Amino acid sequence: MAIRKVGVLGCGLMGSGIAEVAARAGFETVVREVEQGFLDKGMERIRGSLGRAVEKGKLDAGQRDATLARLQGTTDLAALADCDLVVEAIVENVDEKRRTFAALDQAVQAEAIFASNTSSLTITQLAMATRRPDRFVGLHFFNPVPVMKLVEVVRTILTSDAAYGSVFDFARAVGKEPIACRDNSGFIVNRLLVPYLLDAIRALEEGVGSVEDIDKGMQLGCGYPMGPFTLLDFVGLDTTYYIANIMFEEYREKRFAPPALLKQMVLAGRLGKKSGRGFYDHAKK
Ligand code: CAA
Ligand code: NAD
Repeated sequence: MAIRKVGVLGCGLMGSGIAEVAARAGFETVVREVEQGFLDKGMERIRGSLGRAVEKGKLDAGQRDATLARLQGTTDLAALADCDLVVEAIVENVDEKRRTFAALDQAVQAEAIFASNTSSLTITQLAMATRRPDRFVGLHFFNPVPVMKLVEVVRTILTSDAAYGSVFDFARAVGKEPIACRDNSGFIVNRLLVPYLLDAIRALEEGVGSVEDIDKGMQLGCGYPMGPFTLLDFVGLDTTYYIANIMFEEYREKRFAPPALLKQMVLAGRLGKKSGRGFYDHAKK
């Protein structure tokens, strides 16, 4: 099935980026949030990112306006009815995602392909909430979506070759470099990245070094663009906590277990950049 119209569920950190790259690539795009306030915030993030692209000369004002004209925001699931592909990027919670996919299955045309941007849930458990597990894939983008080149495209044992091929082509059409992954919790990248990030928190708990020095160590010693605490604040400590719990539940290995400090930070509302404070104070910036 040719993909012409794309739906995106969630206009948070990731959903706003996914909607932006789809609209920039020429797809008619509709992004759905649960509340108007969240939608306004997400659309503002998209306008900011497009504005930055214009300033940097990557996009001209005409292309920015055309991108915005292709982009529709909504709080109504029915607005996604005629989409050919729907990419879900809502909170990392299995019950919320399954409930949303079941409702989406009723609201969207039967031929459409569904994709989840989940970081850690298996695609099979989400696909089985719908009547179209053969047209269901994982499509895992990286943060910040407009910048990071990689997309993991995940198939389950139920995914059809046609649906998988269409989504692989879509990833290329939005300017990304797709890699093929099997359906296991964390796919390729998070299976390796998440234990590293959690280990940085454990190193801090054990007093190995300060937040700043651990970050500097990995940046200057290993050439990482961001140290682990900067990256944790960037990803969101709430999202990281949900991911760690899901991966620990799946693998039962200590390296995926959320450290106590991570849980305390989330309970204390220190969610990283999104809340103004995480391991760093972002309100100052
Ligand atoms: N939206 C859009 N564009 C952005 C952006 C954003 N949020 N943040 C930065 N950019 C753009 C800038 O405009 C800039 O563009 P130009 O190259 O055209 O100038 C470019 O990105 C580089 O930005 P900066 O020069 O301001 O900053 P930088 O050199 O420090 O790069 C970065 C920023 C690309 C984010 C870099 O620090 C980086 O690669 N960090 C690591 C990010 C990472 O690891 N992401 C994966 C997170 S894990 C994940 O996503 C999976 C999961 O499931 C949790
Ligand atoms: P976020 O908290 O920034 O955004 C989630 C948004 O989804 C919120 O604005 C919320 O209002 C909205 N939402 C909740 N239920 C909804 C529904 N039923 N319909 C529409 N919108 C709904 O989270 P995020 O960081 O964008 O993460 C979203 C997904 O992407 C998660 O599955 C996460 O694991 C994954 N992911 C996150 C990152 C990252 O770096 N943060 C990277 C890759 C993948």
